[in-house]
Amino acid sequence: MVNDNMSDKKSLIIYYSRRGQNYVNGEIVDLEVGNTEVIVDYIREITGADVFEVETVDDYPTDYMKTTEVAQKELEDNYRPPIKNGLDSIDDYEVIYIACPNWWGTLPMAMFTQLENLDFNDKIVKVVITHEGSGLGDSMKDIQKLCSGADIKEGLAIQGGEVNYSKSKVERWINST
Ligand SMILES: Cc1cc2nc3c(=O)[nH]c(=O)nc-3n(C[C@H](O)[C@H](O)[C@H](O)COP(=O)(O)O)c2cc1C
Repeated sequence: MVNDNMSDKKSLIIYYSRRGQNYVNGEIVDLEVGNTEVIVDYIREITGADVFEVETVDDYPTDYMKTTEVAQKELEDNYRPPIKNGLDSIDDYEVIYIACPNWWGTLPMAMFTQLENLDFNDKIVKVVITHEGSGLGDSMKDIQKLCSGADIKEGLAIQGGEVNYSKSKVERWINST
């Protein structure tokens, strides 16, 4: 058990997660709590980190397949979806957890909107990605660009269907990175 906020290391979790219709273990399901949100709760419980949720101004379609189409177009266009009340500064924090789903092999473009607006110099960055088979994909490559100047630790990939059984895995990763 670590508690970064009880030492001088203050931590922040920046995350995106899309509740509702999703694809888990080969079938369409309706998630009341997004897969990434489950992981964010573990990190918060284990570290006491503050939490910031990235929320898009425009909702994605309810339909999973339609969302994948919108997201694919956003990636192809290198689009930056507008976000609500974006975070302006992470100056108060030393460790930044970045948590989101794998969308088409990388982070959802809304994470690009948020992360490229922040100064990551001298921060410690820990990335966790939930996915449905592609693992971290190209996320870490993109994180290198988005978080330039940071000490980027080894990323953790968790399959969506496993999130409810992954607290100890998350804790081991937190303690070993
Ligand atoms: C738009 C979209 C694109 C996705 N693309 C991938 C992908 O390329 N590879 C993969 O393994 N999973 C992909 N998935 C599945 C999600 O990564 C997975 O279900 C994740 O756990 C969802 O997290 P969330 O509930 O926090 O949003 C995609 C899901 C969506 C909605």
